[in-house]
Parts: sequence; structure tokens; C-alpha cells
Amino acid sequence: MIIAIDGPAASGKGTLARRIATHFGLHHLDTGLLYRAVARDVQRSGGDLEDAAAAAAAARAIDAATLDDPALRLPGAGEAASIVARVPEVREALREMQREFARRPPGAVLDGRDIGTIVCPDADAKIYVTATPEVRAQRRYLELQGRCERASYAQVLAEIRRRDDRDAGRAASPMWPAADAFLLDTSNLDIETAFNTAVGVILRKVGQRGRTR
Ligand code: CDP
Repeated sequence: MIIAIDGPAASGKGTLARRIATHFGLHHLDTGLLYRAVARDVQRSGGDLEDAAAAAAAARAIDAATLDDPALRLPGAGEAASIVARVPEVREALREMQREFARRPPGAVLDGRDIGTIVCPDADAKIYVTATPEVRAQRRYLELQGRCERASYAQVLAEIRRRDDRDAGRAASPMWPAADAFLLDTSNLDIETAFNTAVGVILRKVGQRGRTR
């Protein structure tokens, strides 16, 4: 079983994806970490994030064992990731890695921006998680405060808006709900309600697929 969870920054898709994976006993991959790691490796080798060739080389050499690096969670890492994520060769290099992960038995939940549209278009269930930019900024702001990171709400909101524009506006695999994705707006939902809704959607989809196979 493959479940695709997509959506914009701080929409809650990561928390949701982790809980869904645990609930169904599936592997989980936060695909944003791959793009964050590419940006980190470009910067560590003294390269420029805008240098497409350097980003593509970093993507081809990515080491999946380094994805638990706390540096990938620092403020700024998401924004850096969205710069290298525009490069088609970067996306191509990471695509097969993600597909291989998805194929590992018994299946996986992948969260990102293009899982339902490009990486796993045949996923058994697709959910596109959204929330207003203000709600998402508030969540990310509280998360950063909880980790004693310095950032103002206004800065976080500005970064989220910039990232939304860059991710939705790029030519290569733009952030977009798949035609067959369930839209889950979590602006007024707590995590428990969002989780229960998502589980219901998945069970319905998997049941329907089972009947049509
Ligand atoms: O956690 P958050 O939603 O803030 O970000 P993330 O999922 O870690 O993604 C960081 C950046 O990586 C995004 O803004 C996208 O530019 C890029 N990304 C992507 O292009 N495709 C994916 N499947 C996942 C992330």
C-alpha cells in the first residue's frame, strides 16, 4: 500500500504522515528532508544554492543515512531546499530514490509536494493537506519557539508565503493537488480530527480499489 500526502509548508502533513504510517504499519519518508539535505550539501561544499549544476551533483551523491541531521530542521533550511527543488535534474535524481522507498514491502507513506502527481501517481490513496498561510505560520512559529529558535511570527509568515509562491510557481513538478486527491483543510481541525478524517479517506479508497481490481 502506498499513501501520498502532499501540501504546502507547515500544513501538518508531516505529523499526519507519521501517524498514518504507524497506524497502518507502513514505512514513512519525509521527502522534504531529501531537498533539505541537497541544499545543506551544496552549502557545506561552499557552493551557491542558485548553481543548478552544483545542486544536481549534490542530489546524485545524496546519502540517505544523513537525513536525521538536526541541521535539516533549522530555520532557513526549508527555504534553501525550495531553491534547489526548482532544478529538474535535482528532482530527477531524487525521484527514483523515493520510488524505491515506496516499493519496499509492506508499503509506505510519503509526504511532500509532488508525491501524488509525479513520484507515485498510482498511490492507493492521496491526500492534499492545506491550511491558511496564517494558521500554518502560527503552527510553525510555535514549533520554533518550542525548540528555542529565534524567529518572529511575521518572519515565519513571510517565509511561508515566499515558499508557497516558489513551490507552486516552478516549472518542474509544481506543488499541486493531484486530480484524485482528497483535499483536507486543517485550518480549523485539531490533529486528532485531521488524523481520523485521513484514516477514513484511506480506508474508503483502499476498499474501492480492492473492488475494482
Ligand atoms: O516541512 P515543510 O513543509 O516546511 O517543508 P519540507 O516538506 O521539508 O520541504 C522543504 C522544501 O522542499 C519545500 O518548500 C519544497 O520546495 C521542497 N520539496 C519539494 O519540492 N518536493 C517534495 N516532494 C518535498 C519538498
